[in-house]
Amino acid sequence: MESAEIRRRWLRFFEERGHHVVPSASLIADDPTLLLVPAGMVPFKPYFLGEVKAPWQRATSVQKCVRTPDIEEVGKTTRHGTFFQMCGNFSFGDYFKEGAITFAWELLTSSVADGGYGLDPERLWITVYLDDDEAERIWREVVGVPAERIQRLGKSENYWSMGVPGPCGPCSEINYDRGPEFGPEGGPAVNDERYVEIWNLVFMQYERGAGDGKEDFPILGDLPSQNIDTGLGLERLAMILQGVRNMYETDTLRVVIDKATELTGVAYGAAPASDVSLRVVADHLRTSVMLIGDGVTPGNEGRGYVLRRIMRRAIRNMRLLGATEPVVADLVDTVIKTMGRQYPELLTDRKRVETVALAEEAAFLKALKGGTNILDTAVTETKAAGGKVLPGDKAFLLHDTWGFPIDLTLEMAAEQGLSVDEDGFRRLMKEQRERAKADAKAKKTGHADLSAYREIADNSGATDFTGYTLTENESTVVGLLVDGVPSPAAAEGDEVEVILDRSPFYAEGGGQLADTGRLRLESGAVIEVRDVQKPVPGVHVHKGVVQVGEVVIGSPAHAAIDVGRRRAIARAHSATHLTHQALRDALGPTAAQAGSENSPGRFRFDFGSPNAVPGTVLTDVEQRINDVLSRELDVQAEVMSIDDAKKQGAIAEFGEKYGERVRVVTIGDFSKELCGGTHVHNTAQLGLVKLLGESSIGSGVRRVEALVGADAYNFLAKEHTVVAQLTDLVKGRPEELPEKISGMLAKLRDAEKEIERYRAEKVLQAAAGLAEGAKDVRGVALAVGRVPDGTSADDLRKLVLDVRGRIQGGRPAVVALFTVANGRPLTVIATNDAARDRGLKAGDLVRTAAKTLGGGGGGKPDVAQGGGQNAEAVDEAIAAVERLVAEAA
Ligand code: ALA
Repeated sequence: MESAEIRRRWLRFFEERGHHVVPSASLIADDPTLLLVPAGMVPFKPYFLGEVKAPWQRATSVQKCVRTPDIEEVGKTTRHGTFFQMCGNFSFGDYFKEGAITFAWELLTSSVADGGYGLDPERLWITVYLDDDEAERIWREVVGVPAERIQRLGKSENYWSMGVPGPCGPCSEINYDRGPEFGPEGGPAVNDERYVEIWNLVFMQYERGAGDGKEDFPILGDLPSQNIDTGLGLERLAMILQGVRNMYETDTLRVVIDKATELTGVAYGAAPASDVSLRVVADHLRTSVMLIGDGVTPGNEGRGYVLRRIMRRAIRNMRLLGATEPVVADLVDTVIKTMGRQYPELLTDRKRVETVALAEEAAFLKALKGGTNILDTAVTETKAAGGKVLPGDKAFLLHDTWGFPIDLTLEMAAEQGLSVDEDGFRRLMKEQRERAKADAKAKKTGHADLSAYREIADNSGATDFTGYTLTENESTVVGLLVDGVPSPAAAEGDEVEVILDRSPFYAEGGGQLADTGRLRLESGAVIEVRDVQKPVPGVHVHKGVVQVGEVVIGSPAHAAIDVGRRRAIARAHSATHLTHQALRDALGPTAAQAGSENSPGRFRFDFGSPNAVPGTVLTDVEQRINDVLSRELDVQAEVMSIDDAKKQGAIAEFGEKYGERVRVVTIGDFSKELCGGTHVHNTAQLGLVKLLGESSIGSGVRRVEALVGADAYNFLAKEHTVVAQLTDLVKGRPEELPEKISGMLAKLRDAEKEIERYRAEKVLQAAAGLAEGAKDVRGVALAVGRVPDGTSADDLRKLVLDVRGRIQGGRPAVVALFTVANGRPLTVIATNDAARDRGLKAGDLVRTAAKTLGGGGGGKPDVAQGGGQNAEAVDEAIAAVERLVAEAA
């Protein structure tokens, strides 16, 4: 059965049983505690925790997931993949253990003709958590699984949480016996290769706190209701249903292996090591495409690093397999073809995905060259010093400047017989991260412990955001934190976080900065609000300082935003939408948004583009934007279903998670985008938009920065003043400036060349005098001396050779000249054939001279160069050369 069919059957089965089908969320987790989505339940977390009421009691999904902790295992075992699809069914306070167990059994064991997967019930083994008698009873009595095929396992296997604070509960797993050729008997408790886990049923009923690993954490309490979260590994079931030995040979991955074989000529099955490489390539390339598809771009931090590491491992494995040419284009194409059947957006986004992937390949191949040099030097140094461990700072340097993932450094060092100080590397990485964090200041909520905010949300509900229409409103303080700790009251001078029942303050999000402003309490207290964040969905946390008076929970408060700042931000945000559309019109859909920041009077907008955007295109884009402003288009926002928004052609930012109802911002007939931000009412309010230029911020991603309204005007006014000063200086009209200035620069260049010529001539003129002045040292003509300071090494060399050529008569000749350049002594010495016949070698003479100068040098017997530190020692060095010549002659 094909993977696409496994997916269809899953969704149909649960849909027929009252589950709402929810499309896979983006791999970019909408959750500050996670980088990427590791499990099917992630998008439903707020429902499990009761932060948000679930819109349905039952749901089902096939969720894209990425997990990388076991990256080293990929390709070596039968079932470790960095990307996989988790089929899930979820109950929010509806059915519990019995419902989950009977659904699972029915779907797995009913025949293919009846819409099931047709697995042989005799091959299914069950595990339950240590004390879960209830689950075991259901398996035995309701389903009829014999007791000998039910095993009890401990917390590390049969208790599920996300590894971080959040929902958790005991679980029960369904395992499939692949038969004796995969290992000894005894059930999943004994062997998980033979009895492979396919489906995990989590009886999600508690909330866990912080703690280490899978086992050591406190249970904070019950969830608001008893829920079900299940996860079936689509790839694992495909492995069984397709009768292949490991997941890399299932339909969607095998085609990538075959493509890699075609590109390298290495057959699958040829050797264990090359098989591992082929599997790594298949797995990693697929993961890369799925990540880029969801808007991740390669980088050195966070998600970008996860992607970079995976992609670079894949490319490197292709090279281990013998590929010498770029390979990513072909492999990406194969992945898109096979995965596009389940994820059609990969087909429509093909161009962008390819662009990002190819740019990363090019960057890596370049880095591989540069980085390999650094690595080789470091390896030679380490070996020369008798070491066996490459220092952590070298690994860090390779990571930081060449984007070498640590495992690449490990592998390449190992090839040369060295290990790497990984602890040192990680320490430096950590230090760098901490520096970055300190830089970002404590501006944003730490997001470490969200329970305080959640509790407020539980008691008071989400903040009623009035800011789309109002700039001030009456409200009540429903939550208060002082220095991050919940408090009933706060005093003058305290750093506070205030939660109101309703608020006009926009919380930073969607690229728009937060509003600032003031809260005036009925008691007379005043809080200056400097930032507003949404650490948990729907809760606006106003951060600031109590300027006067005392704040008590429950106080009525008048909340008012800084209107000027808000307007300037709104202008920037509307301008961003215009820029987005104008760039798409000019460059095509590849120019999709990759990020943005809207601040008062200025914005930056990041978008996909393989190359720099030519200046002329940027000028056209700017022109179009400003044309739109003068067309006085109305800006409108409307809430509608996501389907309607798509039908109307609204642009959505990939990687963003949207609910069922979305807000669509329309600017006349020019732009339509999903957006939760605040905007102007009419484009005329923008006044003026000035694009400042564009630059690269990573593989395939460019950034434009721009000014809006008065800021744009001020910028242009300043430039105007500069132009006026320049026209004054060069005595020309503004439009003549480029020509005049480039003319002046050309003249300057010519003059510099002329000076250079004079200088060289002067140096050479000295040659005749030097040759004439050569002393006779027992038959050897010795021209030795000091030439003016500042002579370059090149000129000195020319001069020495010239002097040597002028010494006539077939006499043995030694020319040794010295100079001091930038405070450091320098010497070039040359000998002719006749001198060399008498044993006078330039290299030997230079070594002696340079040593006297406190340095080193060397070269060939006919001409050599050296230098040192000690400019005072030039005379001494001259004497040393004279002595040597006298001794040898
Ligand atoms: N959330 C559960 C898992 O990831 C189903 O295994």
